[in-house]
Amino acid sequence: MKQSVLTFKKMKEDGKKISMLTAYDYSTAKLMDEAGIHGILVGDSLGNVMLGYEDTIPVTMQDMITFGSAVSRGAKNALVVIDLPFMSYQISTAQALENAGRLMKEAGADAVKLEGGASVCPQIKVITDAGIPVMAHIGLTPQSVNVFGGFKIQGKSREAALKLIEDAKNVEEAGAFAVVLEGIPSSVAEIITNSINIPTIGIGAGAECDGQILVNQDMFGMFSDFTPKFVKRYAEIGKEMKRAIADYMEEVEDGVFPAECNQYKISDDIMLELRKEVEII
Ligand code: KIV
Repeated sequence: MKQSVLTFKKMKEDGKKISMLTAYDYSTAKLMDEAGIHGILVGDSLGNVMLGYEDTIPVTMQDMITFGSAVSRGAKNALVVIDLPFMSYQISTAQALENAGRLMKEAGADAVKLEGGASVCPQIKVITDAGIPVMAHIGLTPQSVNVFGGFKIQGKSREAALKLIEDAKNVEEAGAFAVVLEGIPSSVAEIITNSINIPTIGIGAGAECDGQILVNQDMFGMFSDFTPKFVKRYAEIGKEMKRAIADYMEEVEDGVFPAECNQYKISDDIMLELRKEVEII
């Protein structure tokens, strides 16, 4: 069944948890879709895990369109949400709307995501008014890493927690259909989840959120540059890839690969003629 903003809303109402993962390519998105994942986020985390940047600041609209369109082609049922990258929406509501429109038209997004609370509500309103669903994102928003002075857990003081609760209410009022809560204390995430009617999707925000999201390379054990405490590895694909690479190299070295079954044939008669001709030449 094709997931939509309505199925996400209904899941919250029915108390059913929403599962999301990030993906950045066609094959992974197809596997996730076939496994029945509810939503796929083409996150600007692709800057870290696909492009090797230290943060998400350098990611461009073209990056999001290239990776996003690959995911949209692979995901038939999951709700595909694509991130608006740094400085593609902060300048003005017109800029935000234009770039949100590009992610829908050029990358096949079902919805877009942007970071920020009250300060980006004008953008959320303009984009949703134009018929584009918006997922908000508050807490440890990676595009603001330089303001936070590093990847630090947010909402730990009374004032900061109250600001997050206000931000969540503001993005809901502006029209967001869901909100990602990243890197905040679980008890603050629980208050937010119980204070708003749109689903909260947590990452490092505890078990009381309406849904969860993880970066796929983290949960598959394929990214080891840094591993936050909230990550759980559900597989060790990285180790398995290294084992396969070592086996492959050994078989190439030993002449075991390619075997007969991996090779193409030509008829013996043609080969005979060919040999004669080559010898003549
Ligand atoms: O870019 C991303 O992958 C994200 C998730 C961590 C929520 O924003």
